[in-house]
Amino acid sequence: MNMHDSERVLGLLSKRGYIPVDDPKEADLILLNTCSIREKAEQKFLSTLGRLKHLKNKRSDLKIGVLGCIAQQSGDKLRERAPYVDYVIGPQNIGRVGEALDFEEGVFTEDNLEIALSEIPAYRESSVTAWVNIMYGCNNFCSYCIVPYTRGRERSRPASSIVREVEELIQQGYKEVTLLGQNVNSYNGDVTFPELLRMLNRIKGLERVRFVTSHPKDLGPELVRVMAESEKVCEHIHLPLQSGSDRVLKLMNRKYTLSEYMEKIGMLRDAMPDIAITSDIIAGFPTETEKDHQATLNALKEIEFDGIFAFKYSKRPYTRASTMDGQLPEEVKSERLTEILRLQDEITEKKNQKLKATVQEVLVEGKNDNGQYTGRTRTNKIVNFVSEGEINPGSLVKVLITEAHRHSLEGKTL
Ligand code: 5AD
Ligand code: SF4
Repeated sequence: MNMHDSERVLGLLSKRGYIPVDDPKEADLILLNTCSIREKAEQKFLSTLGRLKHLKNKRSDLKIGVLGCIAQQSGDKLRERAPYVDYVIGPQNIGRVGEALDFEEGVFTEDNLEIALSEIPAYRESSVTAWVNIMYGCNNFCSYCIVPYTRGRERSRPASSIVREVEELIQQGYKEVTLLGQNVNSYNGDVTFPELLRMLNRIKGLERVRFVTSHPKDLGPELVRVMAESEKVCEHIHLPLQSGSDRVLKLMNRKYTLSEYMEKIGMLRDAMPDIAITSDIIAGFPTETEKDHQATLNALKEIEFDGIFAFKYSKRPYTRASTMDGQLPEEVKSERLTEILRLQDEITEKKNQKLKATVQEVLVEGKNDNGQYTGRTRTNKIVNFVSEGEINPGSLVKVLITEAHRHSLEGKTL
């Protein structure tokens, strides 16, 4: 979501005649797009911002802006703390970047109720795959999460506007779109999310449709059916589990139990036996016991995700979990995270090994640093491969998988 926000800010700026430069020393305007989902992201931002102060001291005409969730969360305070910051623009207001630049300075952090209606041009790096926003914000208030406080309530974009953007992308040569939303499958525009997928599936020239991130509570039989029936909708879902302990899930306010989650996995795998399922896990939520942690490890063993993102629980301002008793020491969180990652690495490697000697459809994105072609399977696995003939980015090719690693597959064209 943040990467796509950056693409849209670049789109707006390029319309005003700005061009990107590689070296901050050459820039007239530096915008930092920030994330506040975990404290570590915030620390990285603060150290980057500190470095920019020296640039500003040398060049008073340089403008510095902070975008994203840290901007939203800190507002005016950010400029009090770092007076060399000229603009503070929250994620609901990125469409106003152009307007902000007409002023010497400013803080733009109001709720934007119209966000789903704004059409902001994106400046995309890839020419094959494109992100497309379909909904904004979150209503779920998982007890650990800051997103509902920074990105505001859920708002869905009208289907006609989404279809129009995708059709334009196809005309520009794009082959794949990834629909974006904090809870993408809670999309609640003028059609339902499964209906939207069916509409996109009918678009000529579009090869693949993906979507992130799905919430288990909104994954029903209709969505599974549409995924299975729509040839353009890829067999991959990112479905955060967060914990394998029902007690912790309840404290997290996730609104499902492990067995309900497993039922959904069963439904997906029954309909699409080769579907790849990935997930997010949080290690060391407040009060998490060794038994809860073991329940998470057992769930990972039983489900066998294709991959996970796992994080140490991080205390976030405003959130319910940050005030809970039973915050765990860093060492415990680190140990548990290491165990989770080690177990999942084995599972991911085992799952990828099973793909050896299979033939996969790969959408070619270009060449990697080693001169091999690179692209992804429908199940979102990276494939690096060799080919005797030249292949253009955007081509769909059949690749025989010859090697499997944890983060990628290797192969050759047939
Ligand atoms: N601490 C650790 N991980 C978090 N996430 C969200 N908030 C926190 C937090 N406070 C994780 C969740 C979510 C992913 C995007 O980030 O796993 O799915
Ligand atoms: Fe955060 Fe939960 Fe909303 Fe995801 S669903 S953005 S984890 S509050």
